[in-house]
Amino acid sequence: MIAAILVVVAAQAPADSGERVLYRDWCSKCHGADGRGVAAATTRLSVPPADLRTCQGSTAETERRWIGIVTRGGAAFGLSLDMPAFGEAATPEQIRAVVRYARSLCGESGWPPGELNFPRAFLVEKAFPENEWVVVEQGRGQKLVYERRLGKRLQLEGEARTAFDSLHRAFDGVTAAIKYNLWHSLEHRALATLGLEVTPPLGRQDLWEVEPYVAFGAVPVGALVVQGQIVSTWEESGGATAVSYRLGAGRQIGRLTPMLEAGWTVPTKGAAEQLLSFYPQMWVQLSRLGHVAASLGAELPAVGPEPRRPRLIAFVLWDYGDAPLLHGW
Ligand code: HEC
Repeated sequence: MIAAILVVVAAQAPADSGERVLYRDWCSKCHGADGRGVAAATTRLSVPPADLRTCQGSTAETERRWIGIVTRGGAAFGLSLDMPAFGEAATPEQIRAVVRYARSLCGESGWPPGELNFPRAFLVEKAFPENEWVVVEQGRGQKLVYERRLGKRLQLEGEARTAFDSLHRAFDGVTAAIKYNLWHSLEHRALATLGLEVTPPLGRQDLWEVEPYVAFGAVPVGALVVQGQIVSTWEESGGATAVSYRLGAGRQIGRLTPMLEAGWTVPTKGAAEQLLSFYPQMWVQLSRLGHVAASLGAELPAVGPEPRRPRLIAFVLWDYGDAPLLHGW
């Protein structure tokens, strides 16, 4: 009887106790017992240790990157030397276990995991909510985009556009947007998001325009990333004027992700023509940490009114939720 009770008690001992001990012995003197980044009074550091407990910080990153940081040390990712490398002293299993424990300190479910944060494409809106600044150059037009996460699944966005062509008015317009991650699954490696963009009649925009959309991202096989979006365009007094179907695929190869997108716009009213364009592009991770990235490519119109001229497109982005601009190089 007693033996049976002992067996039951042993089986019920917290399964993560091994991880917890590793964390306490290896990490807590800098990151704090609760992960909040309050180093022990006896520990001297030149930069504050990361707060491992904030859900937004830990869930937006991949487990793989944290394993990399703990194995190879902060310096390998452009972070401080104060974050030591454990790769020599610990086994890969121990590192995985302690990283999983550190990532569990957030203590909440429902945050979209960083594994589903796919590289930004030219056309398709990202389904992952972001804290980002993006500067875009499109032919003679420029765009500044600011994105801000709110809680687990919501993101607000503001965009200002300029155009330096033969017209006098360089100010092209502004757009405000909101998006909400409806569903995500790490197991299925996919997520889907609902969004709404609103463009007031400012700059070169004459009428109010509202664009509800649904966007998704997925890794259907291997390392192939597929992202898509369906957008419906509504104009003031005109109702729904067009539907756009956007689809892109890419594959990460080291710091590069070559991608190809297609965008097909079908007018639902009037005599407007259908438009079809292709967008070959190369996404490049610039900083070692991965929080600064750029992309270069082109828009190649295939169907639509003449003249159909190719346009160069490029952007630079900074994920300011990840690290300060000059950190992580
Ligand atoms: C000697 C002090 C020290 C120890 C021990 C230590 N860390 Fe760190 N860690 C830091 C500092 C300082 C930073 C911030 C580096 C920076 O921002 O440049 C950091 C950063 C990190 C990051 C990056 C977080 C981010 O947001 O990018 C992770 C992950 C991390 N530590 C995990 C761990 C884990 C897990 C352990 C235990 C196995 C551990 N650390 C042990 C000091 C330490």
